[in-house]
Amino acid sequence: MEFPFDLTPVLGDRFCVVDQHLRPAGRPGPTHRGDLQQQLRTVIDELGKASAKAQGLPAPVTSAARMESNRHVLYILRDPGGAAHRPPRGAVIGFLKVGYKKLFLLDRTGVHVESEPLCVLDFYIHESLQRHGHGRALFQHMLQSERVDPRRLAIDRPSQKLLGFLRKHYGLDDPIPQVNNFVIFEGFFSNRPVLREEAEPPWPFNLRPFVRRDGRTEPPAGQTDAPPPPRRASSLGR
Ligand code: COA
Repeated sequence: MEFPFDLTPVLGDRFCVVDQHLRPAGRPGPTHRGDLQQQLRTVIDELGKASAKAQGLPAPVTSAARMESNRHVLYILRDPGGAAHRPPRGAVIGFLKVGYKKLFLLDRTGVHVESEPLCVLDFYIHESLQRHGHGRALFQHMLQSERVDPRRLAIDRPSQKLLGFLRKHYGLDDPIPQVNNFVIFEGFFSNRPVLREEAEPPWPFNLRPFVRRDGRTEPPAGQTDAPPPPRRASSLGR
């Protein structure tokens, strides 16, 4: 994904980490270059739109404004450019957004556990560059920076591509059924500090999901009149 400005002062090297302060090139401290911050906002907004389109979402879940109002972290991967076959100003390959959320999650025995895992919230590699290992490079960079085991992550509404990605690269192929949009895998609860355990939490968390073969869940039989959980608002503490 190319932009009509030089990406080097905006994103820096290959990996750029952006938090709610939206600092160009991820550099700490105040920036005196308002134009760079505006360009960073443009990059984030365009990436968010492209990701939403790729996933068939009605609206982007990633934007500069949303970044400012949440404590999320955005990992951006770029092609620095320069070589003869590459765009002279560089290009953005994709991004990964993560953040901590308080969630009610079911363990294998069906007990509800309140915990606050690092969640994968959005993930996108440009269409022309998918299946070239860029997603894995970005994911690995995030795992190292956040010092987290992939089994400890909660994934917000993963696409089939992402489920395949997690299976292939991290051996995550046995989801623990949930009643919300999040997917977790075996190993999620091992040695994790839990905030609270509840045998029977309030509706709608007390509903047992029907688990499809692909690991996704459907509402329990006879509960189809129940209002569905709001899109991406199933976490607590927001
Ligand atoms: N169809 C099926 N699986 C795919 C796929 C596709 N079009 N693209 C990637 N994958 C999975 C496969 O397991 C693939 O391995 P394979 O080629 O041996 O089958 C593996 O990912 C490739 O790994 P890698 O090249 O490191 O991943 P990537 O750079 O393609 O990035 C995604 C993975 C999911 C970020 C990328 O495919 C993407 O942006 N998809 C569209 C947006 C999306 O679905 N995001 C997830 C948000 S929930």
